[in-house]
Amino acid sequence: ALISLRQLLDHAATNGYGVPAFNVNNMEQIRAIMEAAVETDSPVILQSSAGARKYAGSTFLRHLIQAAIEEWPSTPVCLHLDHGASPGLCVQAIQNGFSSVMMDGSLMEDSSTPSSYEYNVAVTRKVADMAHACGVSVEGELGVLGSLETATAGKEDGVGAEGKLSREQMLTDPDQAADFVAKTHVDALAIAIGTSHGAYKFSSPPSGEVLSIDRVKEIHARIPDTHLVMHGSSSVPQEWLKIINEYGGDLGQTYGVPVTEIQEGIKHGVRKVNIDTDLRLAATGAVRKHLVENPGNFDPRKFLTEATKAMKEVCRSRFLAFGSAGWA
Ligand code: G3H
Ligand code: 13P
Ligand code: NA
Ligand code: ZN
Repeated sequence: ALISLRQLLDHAATNGYGVPAFNVNNMEQIRAIMEAAVETDSPVILQSSAGARKYAGSTFLRHLIQAAIEEWPSTPVCLHLDHGASPGLCVQAIQNGFSSVMMDGSLMEDSSTPSSYEYNVAVTRKVADMAHACGVSVEGELGVLGSLETATAGKEDGVGAEGKLSREQMLTDPDQAADFVAKTHVDALAIAIGTSHGAYKFSSPPSGEVLSIDRVKEIHARIPDTHLVMHGSSSVPQEWLKIINEYGGDLGQTYGVPVTEIQEGIKHGVRKVNIDTDLRLAATGAVRKHLVENPGNFDPRKFLTEATKAMKEVCRSRFLAFGSAGWA
């Protein structure tokens, strides 16, 4: 059944667990996530970005997700718009049946230029007013994502090399978070605590804490009723990196967010944990391996089955690690 993000995360907060929010673009990803969720009795957040809409088209996306809800009616599913760039896009998603939208007003509509605080408040409040009138939940974002390793914001998140920021500048400010939530009425808030999007998060193996869990605690203390969201939460499984490179790929050495730090965050108010890269890596590794080992195969169902299995294993392990298993 389709449920809103507020319903889903209120339950997660009451019971002290977190929910992975996986990005979806096609049938294989949706099937992998749903099968892992059904087998572990976990509620599900499926999220689609503008890139997903460009790839699959909004009609296909809507029907693929509708198919999942129809096939597994007893699994709670939240359908969420990831990084909505404008109020108009959020309204379109609501029309398309999404039960939750992210208004990412931390960036301008071009999705790369950082915005002013006033702009962020204005567009997010506008979306919250409209979405709440329709029973749809809203996630906002405050702060600029970026790895604390170099204290330079990742370029994927809109700040180039010239935008070198201090550690303090890179973390969401707790007082501002409280003001933002009071002014916008968001249900969930994405915060900057040292995560960044994509595979290249950290260049050396984690030694000690890579995120600011203290900052999570400070923010949670100020806005205990707002569900915290961690973007850029892929763990970059080293076993999949190795397989990709063994079977013809060429990815640089890189490290992701340790699952143990996500678990720490969940103890202190993190409820939604965004993951895209890990499923991409697992799928790519599985397809490369299958094609190298089966050079005579030209039936896409064979390698896509391997990709689905690999993604499903990652999903299962996150549902178990974040504690959402057993709650559906
Ligand atoms: O935040 C970005 C997500 O990983 C979605 O990526 O825009 O390539 O679909 P995408
Ligand atoms: P990753 O790139 O770490 O998977 O993060 C995805 C994300 O935050 C989507 O919004
Ligand atoms: Na999102
Ligand atoms: Zn994100």
